[in-house]
Amino acid sequence: MTRVDADPVEAAGRLLTSVGVCLMRAAELTKCIGADDDAWVRFSSHWEKLVPDSYAAELGTRRLRRYGSFCYKAADEVAMPMPHRAFAQPENSNPLYIERDRHFEPLADAFTSDPLLHKVLRLLGRLATALDDVAEWTAKVHPFRVLASAEGEGQPTPEGLHRDGVTLVTSLLIGRHNIAGGESSVCDQHGHRLLKATLSEPGTLLLGDDRRTLHAVSPIRPVDPTEPAHRDVLVITFAPAD
Ligand SMILES: [Fe+2]
Repeated sequence: MTRVDADPVEAAGRLLTSVGVCLMRAAELTKCIGADDDAWVRFSSHWEKLVPDSYAAELGTRRLRRYGSFCYKAADEVAMPMPHRAFAQPENSNPLYIERDRHFEPLADAFTSDPLLHKVLRLLGRLATALDDVAEWTAKVHPFRVLASAEGEGQPTPEGLHRDGVTLVTSLLIGRHNIAGGESSVCDQHGHRLLKATLSEPGTLLLGDDRRTLHAVSPIRPVDPTEPAHRDVLVITFAPAD
């Protein structure tokens, strides 16, 4: 009898549709997208090109970011960059920014065309389509760096437990530098915790069905308060195209 290894993407799809949340290990994701061992180190260099988020600064949080969106067609599994626009928070989601457009700096060209980004988008597009049979998706892409220092902890989710008003919400760990904390929690609509995990290895991917879960990340603080401290993540959401 031939032994067939379980396909991690199919396994992730099953968990998403049954439980509503799934954590993919870095080794699984790296293998699924056909990346090499140095892929995440190389990809992390894009996080050195992020710029301050003035909206987060109003809340006392120091965060660097950029933003862009893609049109993903399920039939051909390709993500095409869309013209840059303001980011509008969907209704019934993050209460801090409802009805307020936020103008972020666009993604850098080198990031937008990075083959690794497109491999991740393709994988996420397949999983979004496993959640809902949608022909055309809008993928919103947010590379973030949350900073912490001796003067103040960093708040990865200053809004607390929340939804993002999309179908699929994902968080890919890019790196943790000199930080403690940053624990991810995912709950169901009744507040029962479905998952608690600290994403520590670059390439670890947390996925949630945003229609029926809420998520939050605990504050981060420096291990050595005299050194720079930050948490880098790539948040990507999928929602049906307008
Ligand atoms: Fe979120």
